[in-house]
Amino acid sequence: MGIQGDKTKALFRKAKQFIPHGVNSNFRYWGDDDTLIISHGEGSYVWDEDGKKYIDYRLGFGPVILGHAYPEVIERVQESLKMGNVFAWTTPLEISVAERISRMCKVDKVRLTNTGTEATFHALRIARAHTSREKFIKFEGQYHGMIDYFMFGTASANEDTLGSLGSGNTAPNSLGIPKDIKNYVINLPFNNFEMLEETIEREWEDLAAIFIEPMLGNCASIMPKPGFLEKMRELCDKYGIVMVFDEVKTGFRIANGGAQEYFGIQADLVTYAKAMGNGFPVAAIAGKEDVMMTIQPGSMAHGGTYSGNVVGVAAADATLEVLETQPVIETINNRGKVLMKGIDEILTEAGIPHVVTGVPSMFGLFLGKDQEPYDFREYLKGDGDLYDEISMELIRRGVQPDADGREPWFLCYALSDDDVNETLNIFNDSVNAVVS
Ligand SMILES: Cc1ncc(COP(=O)(O)O)c(C=O)c1O
Repeated sequence: MGIQGDKTKALFRKAKQFIPHGVNSNFRYWGDDDTLIISHGEGSYVWDEDGKKYIDYRLGFGPVILGHAYPEVIERVQESLKMGNVFAWTTPLEISVAERISRMCKVDKVRLTNTGTEATFHALRIARAHTSREKFIKFEGQYHGMIDYFMFGTASANEDTLGSLGSGNTAPNSLGIPKDIKNYVINLPFNNFEMLEETIEREWEDLAAIFIEPMLGNCASIMPKPGFLEKMRELCDKYGIVMVFDEVKTGFRIANGGAQEYFGIQADLVTYAKAMGNGFPVAAIAGKEDVMMTIQPGSMAHGGTYSGNVVGVAAADATLEVLETQPVIETINNRGKVLMKGIDEILTEAGIPHVVTGVPSMFGLFLGKDQEPYDFREYLKGDGDLYDEISMELIRRGVQPDADGREPWFLCYALSDDDVNETLNIFNDSVNAVVS
C-alpha cells in the first residue's frame, strides 16, 4: 500500500503528464505510489494534498533550520520585494549578509550564489585557478551537487560503480557525463588516513583541491575520525592544496559557524547554502583572503544574474539574524539529543542492532550492525531495507524522515518537545509494526 491519498494520487498523475516523473529533482521521486504532493508547511509540519499532517524531518533536504514559513524570514522577504528584486548592482542587503557570514564563520571574503551546486562548482574553479592544477580529491559517499565533475562515487552510487578500494575506477553516477572527466577526480574512502597521505604524496603536483563534507551529510551523518580533518589540514598546508569544506548541509546547522566551528578547523574555501536562507535559494562561497581574491574580473570568472538577488539575500539576512540573536542551535540540540536517545532505546528494546550516528541537528540511523560505520562502503553493509520499512511506517503515521537512510533526520527550531514525544511514540509503533 502506497502513501498517497486519493487527491495526491490524482494530482501526481497530472504532474507526470507535464513533468518528467512528476518531480523537479530526481531525489524526490519515490515511485508512482509513494511520491507525495505537499500543499503547505508551517513550523515543524507539512501537509500533503489530502490534508494529512506530518512532523517534518526532511525539511526540504535540510535547509529549513528555523521552521517552515518562519515569520521573521517571510516578513523580511516581503518587505524587500517592495523595493524591486534584481538590479545588477550590489545592494546593502548583500553587504549585510557577507558581513554576517564573515563574522559567524570567521572567513575573510564571501561571494553569493543561488544554489549549493553553483557554490561548489565555483569553489572548484577558484581552487584550480589559485593553484594552476586541475585534479581534486573527494570522498566516496559525499555529494557536492549536480556538476559533472562531482558526480563520481556520490552517496547515490551503488557498490558496483565504486570499483575496488582506491582503484580510482569509479563510474559516473549519471548518464551524460563525459567519461574522461574521471581523470580529474580522485575518490577516496572517508576516514582513511593512509590512503589520503599516500595519494597526496603521489599526486600533489596535480592536486588543486580536496573537497570534503566534514561529516557525511549525504550518508547517515557519519562523523570524521578524530584527527582526520587535522591531518588533511596539515597535508593541504604542506603541499599547497586548497582545502574546501562543503558545508551546504552543515553550515549554519551544526553550529552558527558550521563545521569549521564545530571541529575547530578553518578550511581555505567553504561552500554554504541550505540553512543559510531557511529554504530560500541563496548560497555562498567563502574563505581566506588570498584564495578568494583569485576571483578577478577579466581573468577568473564568477558570476550569475541572480547572484545576490534580493529575495534570497533578504531571507539569508533574516535567518542569520535569528541565528545570531536566539538560541536556535542550542534548542535544536537539546531536542535532538532527546530524540536520538529515545530512538536508540526503542531500537535496543526491539533487538535491532543499530547505531545512531551524527549530531542532534542532523543525525542518521545505521541499522543491522552495532558498530559505527566509518565510510560509505561500511554504510552499504547495513540493513537499508529495514530502514526503508520503518521509515514508510513512520510516514504512514505522520512522521516524515527521508525513506533513504543515507539522508539524515534534520531538525528545526520550531520542533517542540511535544513533537519529539509524539515522534518517539510513533517511532515505537512503527518499529513494532515492522518487527512483529
Ligand atoms: C553537501 C552538499 N553539497 C552540495 C549540494 C548541492 O546543493 P544544491 O542542491 O543547492 O545545488 C548538496 C545538496 O544536497 C549537498 O548536500
